[in-house]
Amino acid sequence: MADSQDHEHNKMQLKGVMGWVEYRLPWVNLLNNAVGTNYPTPRNLNYWWNFGSLAGLALVIEILTGVVLNMHYVPTAEGAFASVERIMRDVNFGWLIRYVHANGASVFFAVIYLHMFRSFYYGSYKNPRELVWWLGLIIFFLMIITAFTGYVLPWGQMSFWAATVITNLASAVPVVGTDIVQWLWGDFSVGGSLLGRFNSLHYALPVAIVGVAVIHMWALHEHRSNNPLGIEVKGPQDTLPFHPYFTAKDLVGVGVFLLVLAGLVFYAPNILGEPDNYVPANPLQTPNHIVPEWYLLPFYAILRAVPDKLGGVIAMGGSIIILFAVPWLDTSKVRSAKFRPIYKQFFWLFVIDTLILGVVGANAPEGNWIIIGQLATFYYFFHFIVILPVLGWIESPKPLPDSISTSVLGDKKSPEPAE
Ligand code: HEM
Repeated sequence: MADSQDHEHNKMQLKGVMGWVEYRLPWVNLLNNAVGTNYPTPRNLNYWWNFGSLAGLALVIEILTGVVLNMHYVPTAEGAFASVERIMRDVNFGWLIRYVHANGASVFFAVIYLHMFRSFYYGSYKNPRELVWWLGLIIFFLMIITAFTGYVLPWGQMSFWAATVITNLASAVPVVGTDIVQWLWGDFSVGGSLLGRFNSLHYALPVAIVGVAVIHMWALHEHRSNNPLGIEVKGPQDTLPFHPYFTAKDLVGVGVFLLVLAGLVFYAPNILGEPDNYVPANPLQTPNHIVPEWYLLPFYAILRAVPDKLGGVIAMGGSIIILFAVPWLDTSKVRSAKFRPIYKQFFWLFVIDTLILGVVGANAPEGNWIIIGQLATFYYFFHFIVILPVLGWIESPKPLPDSISTSVLGDKKSPEPAE
């Protein structure tokens, strides 16, 4: 009750046309409550909390550039490759739009991985933010499908063969496997029919991502952000209004993000791509080395770590599904790794493990890479199934500070934020 009174009290009173609209559609108050002066935010958030807003920015950039690309793209086996070349050479600023879209996808994944590892480090997925985490994982899954379908669209050699390898995985399903594959293809081979479907999905899924991202934010706003100390907010002295403090801080991230993206687009636009994808798809010639984009390499390594096809598919699917159980597998009462000396070491080991999986995914599965891939895959699951629960039981965390404000300001009185 007190809360809703405060809420009424904090409502912005607008005059004139703005007031007329606001009375009927209170969008200024909505924004103010979501990202404005009326959204109390833990005062100790560090730069690791920038990646949520950056993910939102990346999503917007991808959708805007994607819509324009699709105006010129021809989703047929005969026309796709040539239409992409046309975009690069003849469409005004087509090269720029395409390079921003392709490199934007890479930067988007980099941002999301940092966003997820931030959650691992600070225990952001723990009670009461389990659903924020789950909704994030649904977004992540949708992003993977979106990126994969997008990779197929230029219909180069890598597009064609990646589509062939991945859709064929469904044939591992006992009895009905081949039927599923042909149903996916809409044909008896990978061709125009699959390309059309992928184009349709690649356009539709980002809309779904926007929807889930809105629910992700809704769930986040219910209990608000975790913070680097992982302790609860105890009162107004622990928070600052989101605007202008965190809007300003988020803008610093936006600047760095745009610099990195511009650096890639203008200086090394193909560094993350595969040269083979500038060769038109040829069903009669398999490339020496079929690899996905860098951000899917760890999952590709897990897929290939199991010698059996169905086993590999189950391991790869399991590597994402297991993330849904993390809020319960992590049995520690303390959220932040700052106060968990042993977990902190294992966190870094896990980071190294995922990097190793990425390197393994980029190399042909032969010689030592096979055994390294199997060990790294084993460790990936071991981290979640054994290390997380056991550490929570046996580790003695360091003492937690009394509150955010005492930790940040010491004994000094909390200064009033400027009006
Ligand atoms: C389109 C993609 C996404 C967008 C736009 C997005 C947006 C955001 C924003 C704006 C925040 C608050 C600021 C911050 O904590 O950085 C946030 C928090 C959070 N996100 Fe995401 N997110 C996305 C994907 C994900 C994914 C893939 C995961 C995990 C699998 C995830 C997990 C979380 C968690 C656990 C929090 C709460 C963090 C905390 O309070 O400490 N998000 N997200």
